[in-house]
This record gives sequence, C-alpha cells and structure tokens, in this order.
Amino acid sequence: MKPSDSKATLSFSDGSPSVEFPIYKGTIGPDVVDIRKLYSATGKFTYDPGYLSTAACESKITYIDGDKGELLYRGYPIEQLATNCDYLETCYLLLNGELPNVQQRAEFVSTVTKHTMVHEQMHFFLRGFRRDAHPMAVMVGLVGAMSAFYHDSMDINDPKQREISAIRLIAKIPTLVAMAYKYTIGQPFIYPDNELSYTANFMRMMFAVPAEKYKSNEVLVRALDRIFILHADHEQNASTSTVRLCGSSGTNPFAAIAAGVACLWGPAHGGANEACLTMLEQLNANGGVAKVGEFMEQVKDKNSGVRLMGFGHRVYKNFDPRAKLMQETCKEVLAELGLEKDPLFKLAVAMEKIALEDDYFVSRKLYPNVDYYSGIVQRALGIPTSLFTGIFALARTVGWIAQWNEMIADPEYKIGRPRQLFTGAAPRNVKPIAQR
Ligand code: ACO
Repeated sequence: MKPSDSKATLSFSDGSPSVEFPIYKGTIGPDVVDIRKLYSATGKFTYDPGYLSTAACESKITYIDGDKGELLYRGYPIEQLATNCDYLETCYLLLNGELPNVQQRAEFVSTVTKHTMVHEQMHFFLRGFRRDAHPMAVMVGLVGAMSAFYHDSMDINDPKQREISAIRLIAKIPTLVAMAYKYTIGQPFIYPDNELSYTANFMRMMFAVPAEKYKSNEVLVRALDRIFILHADHEQNASTSTVRLCGSSGTNPFAAIAAGVACLWGPAHGGANEACLTMLEQLNANGGVAKVGEFMEQVKDKNSGVRLMGFGHRVYKNFDPRAKLMQETCKEVLAELGLEKDPLFKLAVAMEKIALEDDYFVSRKLYPNVDYYSGIVQRALGIPTSLFTGIFALARTVGWIAQWNEMIADPEYKIGRPRQLFTGAAPRNVKPIAQR
C-alpha cells in the first residue's frame, strides 16, 4: 500500500484528544483512511453496517467505478474481455494477474479439462437429496463435500496445493451443476467430454441424453461463455466477502467456496436473476405489457414490498456495464433461436424504458443490473429458472478462489472479526424461576 502525503484527523466534541490516521492511495479509486489503530487509541469502534464506507481488504484483482459504469478485471475493461477472450482465458487472468499467451493458454485449458470428472462417490452423495431439492441447496452440499474428497490439496499454506484446489474447483463445478440439474429431472448423468470447450462441455452435460447425438450450437455456447465472463468476479461483493471471511479462519477452500455459494443464493444477490424472471413470467401471465404501468406503480409504492428485480446496484450508480453486454447477447440468442418476439424480452424492454425515464428510478440512480437480461438469455438456452443462481455460482467460483488465494498469500492477513455496537440488556442477575 502506498501512503499518501495527507493524513486524516479525527476530533471529538467531548474534549478527548484528536487522533491522526494514515491515508493510503490505490492505483485508482478512493483513498482509504487506515483506522486500524482507532480502538487502541480511543477505545471506540467505527460503525458501518452493510460496509457502505469500508474497504475490508487490499486487492489487485477487480476494480469497479460505479459512477462511470466501469468494471476492470486486472485492469482490463469487461467489454474488451467479453468480446476478445473466452471464459478460461478470463479465469487465467483472474488467477494469475496476466492474460495467457498461446502456450500458457493451451496448458491451462489442458489442465482444467483433465480435472472435469468428479469422484464417482459424489453421485451417491447427490442421490441422498430429494429430487425436488433446489439446485442451490444441492450445490452448497456438493461443494462443501468436495473437502471430503481431496485431502491431498488441503494445506492452504502451500501455494501449489492452493493452485490444485483452484483448478479442481473451476474444472469440476460445471460437472456438479449439470449433475444437480440431471438429478432433478431424472435423467442419467452425462460424463464430461474433454474434446469440447469448457462451456460446450457444460452445455452437453446439461442437455445431452445417452439415447441421442448431441450437437453444440456455437452461438449459444458463446452466449453462455459470455455470461460466465460477466459473472466471473465483482470485487468485494457479499458472497466474495463471505468467502474471504470464512476462509480467514484458515478453513479449506472447498468449505470457504461453499459459504460463498450459500450467500449467493439470496434474492438480493445471485438469486436476483431467478427472481427477475419469475417477476417477468408473473407479469406476462397477468396482462403483460398492458399492465406494466400498474406494476411500476406498485414498485414505487414503499408499502407494497415489490421491487423491480434486476434493477439497482450497491456500487453501480450510472449503469452496469455487464447489463449492456447482456442485452446484446440476449438479442443474439433470441435471433439465433427465432425468438425475436419473446414476450418476456418485450416486457423487460418496456419496463426498462419506463424506469429509465421515471423520476423514482432516476433520482435513486437505479439502472438495470447484469441480472435483468441474463434470466431471459438463460431461459432461451433451455436452463430452468431454478438453476440460474447455480450458473452464477459456476461462473463466480473463479473470482471466489482468486480472492481467497490473494487473501491467504497476503502476509498481513488476519482472521476477520468485526465488532459491534451493543444495545442489548445491561448486566443483570438471573432470578430463581419462581420470581421471574
Ligand atoms: N426496485 C425499487 N426500488 C428500489 C430498487 C428496486 N429494484 N432497488 C433499490 N430501490 C430503492 C430503495 O427502496 C431505496 O429507496 P429509498 O431511498 O426511498 O428508501 C433506494 O432505492 C436505495 O435502495 P437500497 O436498498 O438502500 O440500496 P442498496 O444499495 O442497499 O441495494 C440492491 C442494492 C440490493 C441491489 C437493490 O437495488 C435491490 O434490491 N435490487 C433488486 C435485486 C437485484 O436486482 N439484485 C441484484 C444485484 S446485482 C448482483 O448481485 C449480480
């Protein structure tokens, strides 16, 4: 960290002496005030629930400028990565800091490809779930269970073992997501085909059946690959912070990533694409475009409890660059499948148009986020709604593991241990039960 020439001074109105704190500069983005000595100097904590003003770590991986609508992986704009690279190149970049050259790419692809199979025992583990289990419930279990299979890569202090775990997670998670899907529909598991690309292989494991030949569609493969790139990492979001916090205790990477999967499941985070599509489907069934105006009034009414899913973001306050790319992909996929008149797409466009011109959304800086169009694309690809968050987890695994690895390798890393403002009962004595 680079110290800045200026310092921050905190003064108190109760006459306590003021305290000075160092300020550090990043490469880009806001400076940070280093308040680590605050408690020892003043006996006070900071209070920032929801981390609105707190940098929880130093990182070199992903940068977001929410006002400019900018997302960079290792310095590269997401637009350039989404149009010039594939998902595995993006994974290499996130893990290693640089884009691979031809030879590095070939080696990385080959290594990931050779790890796509999961232990056969995993099939029996999966069979313990009810067939109607939500795929995210299954994923939390399966990813956590990986720690029971790979004892040879559990020493988190050995960089080589951390690398092996990263490869295993990236390589096996598509196999697990596809297995979770096949299980819910009662079809046989399809083993990976290492002749295919990462994403084509995943689609085959999802959609092929042993009774028929399966042929990949390059446009659709490219669309899903782009979804993976756009979701690969996103700075210190809720699930990534969960992985860091969980991993900070020194637990194994599979357990830490399982915690990330659990966090991602929530509708305010990775569950938003599922919630968004459900919203569009319900609206379509209840009047469609003609009812959009009425629905938007409900969204604006604070008492209704209705939110426009796929809209708004904690960090992006201008536009989400991933949403633009996703809308483009959405159009390509619908055209490829002859679904240009898709009623949900029409509905989404109509609602976006109203929202972008409505003072409620404009004044609160609410814009479509990546999930607004990703549900429509995934549905067109044949992915069931309940699996959308599983796809997100698949794509985000690389971000989680890159961030976890960065944290473990940081000599300054400590177990995460937030403090609190306690407003509960003051000390008191337990009375005998007859006197309570
Ligand atoms: N619809 C209607 N109103 C909204 C929406 C929305 N989608 N999002 C925010 N608002 C309103 C809030 O009611 C609040 O209004 P107020 O100031 O009058 O009280 C204001 O905008 C600010 O909202 P907060 O919830 O305080 O913003 P926060 O940064 O905490 O939340 C979040 C961000 C969770 C993404 C929120 O916008 C939301 O719930 N969106 C819908 C869910 C969604 O799409 N999540 C996906 C996020 S992206 C991702 O995880 C990949």
